[in-house]
Order: sequence, then C-alpha cells, then structure tokens
Amino acid sequence: MKLMNLGFIGAGNMARAIINGWQTKELDAEIYLHSAHKTSYEPYAKEKGLKTCETNSEVVLQADYVFLAVKPIILGEVLTEIKAAVKRQKPVIVSMVTGVSVAEIAEHLELAENEVEIVRIMPNVNAEIAEAMTALHANQAVTPAHFEIVQQLFELIGKTEIMAERDFSTFVALAGSSPAYVYFFIDAMARAGVKYGLKKEQATKIAAQAVLGSAKKVLSDEKTPMQLVDDVCSPGGTTIAGLLALEEAGFMTAVVKGMDATINKDQGKA
Ligand SMILES: NC(=O)c1ccc[n+]([C@@H]2O[C@H](COP(=O)([O-])OP(=O)(O)OC[C@H]3O[C@@H](n4cnc5c(N)ncnc54)[C@H](OP(=O)(O)O)[C@@H]3O)[C@@H](O)[C@H]2O)c1
Repeated sequence: MKLMNLGFIGAGNMARAIINGWQTKELDAEIYLHSAHKTSYEPYAKEKGLKTCETNSEVVLQADYVFLAVKPIILGEVLTEIKAAVKRQKPVIVSMVTGVSVAEIAEHLELAENEVEIVRIMPNVNAEIAEAMTALHANQAVTPAHFEIVQQLFELIGKTEIMAERDFSTFVALAGSSPAYVYFFIDAMARAGVKYGLKKEQATKIAAQAVLGSAKKVLSDEKTPMQLVDDVCSPGGTTIAGLLALEEAGFMTAVVKGMDATINKDQGKA
C-alpha cells in the first residue's frame, strides 16, 4: 500500500490492537498519535516508531485518515476540539466509537454529511493478531477510492463486512464482544479438563486449538454448522450425549440471551 499519513486520536486497547496488527504487515504509512496522557502515548509511540502530536488538532493536520479511538463519552469534546482542523485539512474520518452514527459525528463537526468523509467501523481486538472482524459503513461523502483504502487497511489485519448502520449493534454482539464470550467458553471447557485431572494450561491449549480448528472448518466448508454437528455425533456416542446435556442446560438460549444483553446495552436500552 502506498505511503500515507494515518492519525490516531486515542491510544487505548483498540487503537493499539490495530496499530500492532499493521506492524506485523507491510504497511507503508506514517502514524501520528495523541491521547489524554503523555505518560500513556509517548512510551508506546517510542516503542513502535510512531510520531507523537501535542494535541488532537495536530493529529488531524498531519493525517489523510484520522482514526477516532476514544470512549463515546469523550467523543463530543474531541470533535469540538478538532472541528476547525477538520475543516482545514479535510481528512477522511474513521470512527470506531461505539454507538455514535456518521450523522451525529458530522453534526458535531458542524458540517453537512456531504462535506465530510466519515467511515464508521467496528473492529475487534483480534486485529492485534491480524484476525479481526471489522464492519464498515461509509457516509455519502466518502469517495470509492478512499473507502477502498480504509477497507484494505482492515483486510490487512483480518476480514471486513460492509454493513448498514442499523446492523452495527448486532455486529457488536457477533464480533465486537464475542471474543470475550469465546474466551469464556474456552475457559469453561478448560475448567472441565481440570475437574478431570488435567493442568489448566494444558487444558486451555487443547480447548483453544479445538475452537480454532472448528472455526476454520466452518469458514472453509460448505456445510452449515448444524450439518457439521451431525457429522461429529456418532449414533449412541459420547458427543451426542454431551451435546444434549449442553442443550438441557440451556446452551443456545444462554448464547442468544448474552447477545440480547449486548445489543440492548449498545442501543441504550439497558
Ligand atoms: N476495546 C474493544 O474491544 C473495542 C472494540 C470495538 C470498538 N471499540 C471502541 O473503540 C473506542 C476505544 O476503546 P478502547 O477499548 O481502546 O478504550 P480505552 O482503552 O479506554 O482507550 C481510550 C483512549 O482514549 C484516550 N483519550 C481519553 N480522552 C482523550 C482525549 N480528550 N483526547 C484524546 N484521547 C483521549 C485515552 O488516553 P490515555 O491512554 O492517554 O489515557 C485512551 O488512549 C471506544 O469507543 C470503544 O467503544 C472498542
């Protein structure tokens, strides 16, 4: 990819996962960074060879693409701070801020939606190991060429899906929060291994590899997950006994209830 300037406002977990992921790939870009505390962003920038800025507006003035990576509650003050720089520099704004629409960002910048290019994204922490799943939505101002660049940036560190904004809450549950659900599932399996005498570390490695292989199988096979379940369950065997016990304990309902709670929270209903 050709050299460009990328700016990050916010240098927390998600920003670092993305930047660390890019650094495992051939990305020809200069990265500029600012966050609330020098003690947070300076050592990180030094370690990773990034350029630091004294203010958020300075990030905007340096960048072709500005990544907003702050918590939703902070976004208003950040947008107020950078709006003059955005009007001057006209970068593409790429927001990963949960629950804030492209229209709300444009409004806060006091620009019409056709005056500012905004791509809303929802990445996940697996960006760090180049296995992210990222949703993308562009407003009407974003040019096809700019959108393609943003999409390529996230294809470098995982897979992407173009989604309507109304589906972002569902995506948050399916891909943004679900790494935590899956870690929880792996830990639960590993605990069962410990119950039957395995060391936790060994049981965790076995359970994680089983989840990884199963996910790869789902992605590479034309069969549905349920057809794959049937393939693994021999008549009268151990797997069907375990599967039915899982369902008796409410496995599928528990997963869907977890997603309901995430979606309700994302939509401010809980
Ligand atoms: N974590 C995830 O899995 C995930 C997934 C998808 C989307 N998101 C979204 O990504 C955004 C960031 O999440 P996160 O998990 O990375 O949060 P985080 O770890 O709490 O990081 C927030 C960052 O914002 C910085 N910050 C606070 N006030 C600022 C200001 N006025 N100007 C510039 N920077 C400021 C903080 O600076 P200091 O470091 O200097 O204190 C910190 O680097 C959130 O909107 C979140 O919803 C997160």
